[in-house]
Parts: sequence; C-alpha cells; structure tokens
Amino acid sequence: KPVPLPEFDGVFYPSFIPFREKGAEKALQDITNFQSRDTDVMICTYGKSGTHWINEITSMLIRKTPELDTANKGMTMLETISDFSVIDTLPSPRLLNTHCLFQYLPKKHIENRNKIIHMIRNPKDTCVSYYHHATKDQVFLSFTGSWNEFFDMWISANCAYGSWYTYEKEIEQAEKDYPGMIFTCSYEEMKKEPTKGIRRLSDFLQIECTDKTIEDIAKATSFENMKNNKVDPTAVADGNSHIYRKGIIGDWKNHFTVAQNKQFDSQFAEKFLGSSYRMLFE
Ligand code: A3P
Repeated sequence: KPVPLPEFDGVFYPSFIPFREKGAEKALQDITNFQSRDTDVMICTYGKSGTHWINEITSMLIRKTPELDTANKGMTMLETISDFSVIDTLPSPRLLNTHCLFQYLPKKHIENRNKIIHMIRNPKDTCVSYYHHATKDQVFLSFTGSWNEFFDMWISANCAYGSWYTYEKEIEQAEKDYPGMIFTCSYEEMKKEPTKGIRRLSDFLQIECTDKTIEDIAKATSFENMKNNKVDPTAVADGNSHIYRKGIIGDWKNHFTVAQNKQFDSQFAEKFLGSSYRMLFE
C-alpha cells in the first residue's frame, strides 16, 4: 500500500530517513544550515537529469583519473543524510549533491560562493525517466500507478520535489544573482559533444587537463561503461541498476500520446517563457 510522502510548503519529498523522521521542514532546515567547507562543490539537478553522470565526470576531473567513483553520489546526497558527520571524513574538495530547490542549499555554500554544477535535461525526457524510476523505487517513492497517472502528477507538480519549472527558474535566477558561481550544462549537450562539455567544466573548475585525460573521462563516463559497471552501489537485486535505463535523447516519443505532447508543449510555452536555457528535445 503506498505510503504518503513527506510534504512541506506544498511540495512532496521522497521518504528518505531524515524527511520521515524529522519531517520535511526540519530536514530542509538542516540542509540549509549544513556547515559547508569553502572547497565543497555541489551538483544541483532536478531528479533524473543525469545527476550520476555529471557527478562521475566532475569526480574524475577533480581526481584527474578516468576511474569511476561510484560510492560518492549515494554517500553525499544531502537529503538522504541523517547525520552530516558521516561526510566529515571525506577529503577536500568534497563533491556533494542535492535535488532540493536552490533556496534550501546550505547558506554557507552560497556565502562562500562555492562552486555549483547544474545539469538540466529536456523536461519531456526527464519526466519519462522519472516515471520509470518512480515505479522501481518502492522504498522512497512508492508510486504504483500508470504512465498516464504519472504524467498528470508531473504536470501538476505533485511528484516528489515538485515543479521542474520552479527548480530551473530558481537556479537561473541564482546564476544572475551570483555571477560565476554556477556552471550549467545540458544533458543533451553533454550527450552530443562530451569532450567539449567536459572541457568546459574543467575550465570552470580551473582544473588543468590534457586532451587525452578529457577523452579518457568521456569514454569512462559513456552510458555503456557506467551501465556495465558491476560495482555500482545503485544496482538492485536483479543485477541491473535502475539508474542506467536507456540514456538517450528523445525517449519521450515512445511514451507521450499526441494529446499529452500538446498539453506539455502548452505548459512549457507558458512556464518557460523568457528563460535563457535552450532545450533540445531530440
Ligand atoms: P533514462 O531513464 O532516460 O535512461 P539521474 O542520475 O539524475 O537519476 O538520471 C538518470 C538518467 O540519466 C537516466 O535516464 C540514465 O539512463 C541517464 N544516464 C545515466 N548515466 C548516463 C550516461 N553516462 N550517459 C547518458 N545518460 C546517462
């Protein structure tokens, strides 16, 4: 039987332990009050936008090696951590991540002007990817409905973490408020030209890298390589991680009905009006 998700300020959250135990309001406050180090780097994404992918790319750049670091993403997702002292032992620079809105990011991270890496994905594919994740994640999301039901939930921002538009608008505003603090790249740009995207990120992080290192990182973080990585801690009992599903641009075409596409397009045109982010849907 599905359990109701924790909620605060009209937004639902996955039933991660801190949200379940302290309530969503307190769990979010604890994230905001988290004591960042001035070297921390934060990956910020709306869920299903390629968080694991950009996390690996960034981690490889920081460590200057094309070796996967699969433990980091799960360990450093702020909203899942009950006691932040568990990440005290991580060496600097720590690579942290969250799907929470910009307004809830650690105050200290912003005051320090610490780096933020933001990956954005076209919302149709994000929605489809989220649907598949939600049906598989019965522990934290417990969604048991159909695609049509999920589509309606997403469109009305009733899925966990709320509205994609609110999320992306807040980050876009923050880019203006804090120039130079946030690096934005799109899932589609990274997919089409990975070495270019990775070079742009290494420049932002001010990490010197040879072309060979960039190419090696691109190969090591290809969808196939990450999917086939057997030590991935997100792997579930059947041996397949539910994070690595298709990894393509345009899978929404296999899910959206003509009517749903029309409804989505009209909401997108209204809510994304004036955004400087360019979205590629195929
Ligand atoms: P799909 O469900 O469309 O396949 P997140 O890490 O934010 O949960 O996002 C997961 C999505 O990113 C999944 O999308 C997954 O397949 C895709 N993904 C993960 N690693 C990838 C990679 N190396 N290249 C391209 N897509 C990747």
